[in-house]
Amino acid sequence: MSKLIISLFVVVLFVLQLVSSQQCETGSVQFTSDLSNLSDWDHYWERTVGSGHAVLALREDWRRALALSHEKLGFQSVRFHGIFDDDLSVVQLDSNGSIIYSWYDVDQAYDYIVELGMAPYVELSFMPELLASGNATIFHYKGNITPPKNYTQWSNLIQAFITHVVDRYGMDVVSQWQFEIWNEPNCGFWSSDQTNYFKLLLETFNAIKSIYPQLSVGGPATCQSAWIPETLAFAKANGIQLDFVSTHEYPTDIQPLQRNIMKQVLTNSRQQVGPNMKLYYSEYNDGLFFRHDTTYASAFIMFNIPDVYGIADIFSWWCFSDVFEEQGQQSVPFNQGFGLLTIYDIPKPSFKAFELLHETGKMRANVTGEHPTAGVFTTLSDDEIMVIIYNHNIPDAPIANETICVTLENIQGTITDSYLRRIDHDNCNPIATWTAMGEPEYPTKSQIDQLKAAAEFNYQPIDFNQNGNSLTFTLEVMPQGVAAVTFKFQ
Ligand SMILES: *[C@@H]1O[C@H](CO)[C@@H](O)[C@H](O)[C@H]1NC(C)=O
Ligand SMILES: *[C@@H]1O[C@H](CO)[C@@H](O)[C@H](O)[C@H]1NC(C)=O
Ligand SMILES: *[C@@H]1O[C@H](CO)[C@@H](O)[C@H](O)[C@H]1NC(C)=O
Ligand SMILES: *[C@@H]1O[C@H](CO)[C@@H](O)[C@H](O)[C@H]1NC(C)=O
Ligand SMILES: *[C@@H]1O[C@H](CO)[C@@H](O)[C@H](O)[C@H]1NC(C)=O
Ligand SMILES: *[C@@H]1O[C@H](CO)[C@@H](O)[C@H](O)[C@H]1NC(C)=O
Repeated sequence: MSKLIISLFVVVLFVLQLVSSQQCETGSVQFTSDLSNLSDWDHYWERTVGSGHAVLALREDWRRALALSHEKLGFQSVRFHGIFDDDLSVVQLDSNGSIIYSWYDVDQAYDYIVELGMAPYVELSFMPELLASGNATIFHYKGNITPPKNYTQWSNLIQAFITHVVDRYGMDVVSQWQFEIWNEPNCGFWSSDQTNYFKLLLETFNAIKSIYPQLSVGGPATCQSAWIPETLAFAKANGIQLDFVSTHEYPTDIQPLQRNIMKQVLTNSRQQVGPNMKLYYSEYNDGLFFRHDTTYASAFIMFNIPDVYGIADIFSWWCFSDVFEEQGQQSVPFNQGFGLLTIYDIPKPSFKAFELLHETGKMRANVTGEHPTAGVFTTLSDDEIMVIIYNHNIPDAPIANETICVTLENIQGTITDSYLRRIDHDNCNPIATWTAMGEPEYPTKSQIDQLKAAAEFNYQPIDFNQNGNSLTFTLEVMPQGVAAVTFKFQ
């Protein structure tokens, strides 16, 4: 009897040893990351995030969502349209019919942002009706998109605004802000043409620089990466030096869809501006085809953030919350709105992707390995290795469950803890829970709690084989899935 147990024990030991000496399974997709080969991992995507228009900054639900996004995702500034819109009562007439300014609502918005430890990324828009040359408006909230009827009045507004924010927050603070002239003058946000946009650009730039040359001012904030050479040529011809060139790109802007379109387009824009000009992508997201509530968005983020690394100085996701009124506020909690958070602050898969990214270290380790849909990146901090694995492709393109084997080499120190978190169909996917509930339009408090619980990370153990200072682990990752493996070390 005891002999049998001993021989069974020996067999088990032998099998265990076989398993642990085996590296990657044949057929698995293999990546190797060398933790002695490090480069900087700048959290460039955290500099700015987009938002619905300015007046929302006075709302409790917007504020809660911004505070959560700042705390969990590390966003440092927030960009929105419409700081001069009449719903903030900025431009008024006194009893004699002269123009006066009211900054109280603007202060309410900016005070909150500054108190959070964030900054506004200031988009100078839209036209107060009293200064407007026409009545053309955009969106449910009716932002006036016409040129000023009198550029002196516009420049006076700009100077009064700048003087006010410098007086209130101090030059040390405001010199860290960005001032961007208008929004998408080529895509329906400007009732006039390029020539008149450039006039607005020049007048606004000069209005600011003539009083505070140290502030950071730029444009043209175009859609579809347009007008970059034209803007640079206009600035040169008029003897002005823009502090940054800004534009927008959505991966659906160019058809048919391409998996690496963001990198292609950003690379082209970088070539147009040259190596020394700041290039701001002040809007982008996973595309204007409304998959924002799904794991498509989280996998898109994990593929693109490392893919476009080092090209743009700002890469600002549009937007952080579904508290948003361009088509009027939507009541259905999952409506494929732009937000990372739904109304009621339920984190979407995209929010959880940015949460993982915020946790990544400040150094990146070299990774070798190639696959058409799967990819890996590894980061290092003082006490943590993070390995993020994604499986992403554009809609209707080939994608399958992939078995992915990762080898980490040259690990320093001793591993003290390890865990796995996933974002995929079965994890951090609250829209699936909402669908299973019968898609309640107005979820009850207990349903909201259930949806929030479904959005949270599930911490799982990770099996790995360590051999000296290298280790190997294997995971299956679903289509549009993300897996993050953390190793704590001392
Ligand atoms: C380190 O990584 C760089 C690229 O990031 C590569 O060119 C180089 O060969 C690697 N060095 C070693 C020693 O593996
Ligand atoms: C309106 O004009 C009158 C006469 O010039 C002046 O006394 C008064 O202060 C003005 N009111 C305002 C609000 O500026
Ligand atoms: C805008 O419309 C109002 C009301 O129809 C009108 O009184 C005003 O003159 C218009 N303004 C411009 C600049 O056309
Ligand atoms: C434009 O506005 C300025 C400042 O209010 C004023 O002095 C000037 O007369 C206006 N120009 C025209 C053409 O109305
Ligand atoms: C890692 O290094 C290899 C050459 O050793 C290089 O081809 C590859 O681009 C590097 N990868 C990263 C992510 O730096
Ligand atoms: C992919 O993996 C998931 C979860 O492990 C499984 O439910 C699904 O059936 C797999 N799909 C295919 C095509 O193998």
